Amino acid sequence: MKSLQLFRIAELSQLLKNKSLPLSWGLLFALQASAQEKAFDEAEYRLSPLFGGPMNTIAGMTEWARDINHVYGVTTIVAVLVFLAVSIPLIITLYKFRVKEEDLTNLRPPKQIHGNALLEITWTIIPFILLLFIAVPTWQVIFKQPDEPPPGAMVVKVIGHQWWWEFQYPELGITTANELHLPAETPVFFVISSADVIHSFWIPQFGGKVDALPGTNVDNHLYYVTPALRNSDAVGGEVYQGQCVELCGLSHALMRFEAIVHKQDEFDRWAKTFNTAPVVASEPEKRGEMLFAQCQVCHTISGTASEDLEKQMLSMSPPVAKQGPNLTDFGNRRTLGAGTRKNTEENFIRWVKDPQSIKPGATMTPFDTLSDDELRSIAAYLRFSTAKKF
Ligand code: CUA
Repeated sequence: MKSLQLFRIAELSQLLKNKSLPLSWGLLFALQASAQEKAFDEAEYRLSPLFGGPMNTIAGMTEWARDINHVYGVTTIVAVLVFLAVSIPLIITLYKFRVKEEDLTNLRPPKQIHGNALLEITWTIIPFILLLFIAVPTWQVIFKQPDEPPPGAMVVKVIGHQWWWEFQYPELGITTANELHLPAETPVFFVISSADVIHSFWIPQFGGKVDALPGTNVDNHLYYVTPALRNSDAVGGEVYQGQCVELCGLSHALMRFEAIVHKQDEFDRWAKTFNTAPVVASEPEKRGEMLFAQCQVCHTISGTASEDLEKQMLSMSPPVAKQGPNLTDFGNRRTLGAGTRKNTEENFIRWVKDPQSIKPGATMTPFDTLSDDELRSIAAYLRFSTAKKF
């Protein structure tokens, strides 16, 4: 811990020396530096400390995030300069021209001034110049966002739902939910929309937040190159927290997701095995598979009858989309209820029996008439049969 802190301080002073980091940002960076390594701590990821937590925007992991922080730094410097330029003369004036003992016997109104063209022009031009200092870097960064996917970029469709996230990879034929798998150091172009109300897609450490709007032809975009792995041997990927940041109803705060960055070959294996049918081995899993028939009106698992049903529903006119998240790789997911609970049998059973107790307002039907044995069977099917080795 201590050595890491020292390393951080050394790194910070290096950055300052290179002038690649605005001073104001540098100070904030120093404040959160010591807590940085906590970002991937499983146990801590619900309790984000102010600095260095998983919702930290200051230590950007992508170039896009660093670009935004640069604008933030420039803006802070301009704001601090304006603050000093106003407050220092104000304090001096208040002190210098305060009423003194000897003035009290001879109080007169000060000399009255009506207009001063030079002063007025000056204090119009100065803010204009200051705003230019903020506007130019802002434009430079905004115009780095392309309107179309650049050649070679992976396209991911992000669809907000009350209260979970759908992720589609059109080129890979994958639809998943609440876990956004990405290859490291890869350009990704997100196409962001909503199935119901306005949501906002945000992975704080990757920078930028973009509204997910309902309706047609209003898709928003976001483009960046995913970060490199911190630990190049990382197995199972490195996890970043995401969150809906537009008030979208009762469980807005529980509309989370995780972005998991993999080595390229691991990501390729993930994509290749994703749509393989579940492997139903044990008796409870077989029972669970049968019981899942009542879930398939809302949920799809690739390679099963629920997938055929989805195709039928989508081919109707008008097409009917399933209401619930795709569960094809549920067994691999770290959380359930869109990042609200760890994916354990206990949490799974509570979720199926009484989703409202975990996510108020959720549209999921409570299956409170199922026996404990039936619930455990469905849990076994979803948690083990759909788990894939990749
Ligand atoms: Cu979706 Cu807030």
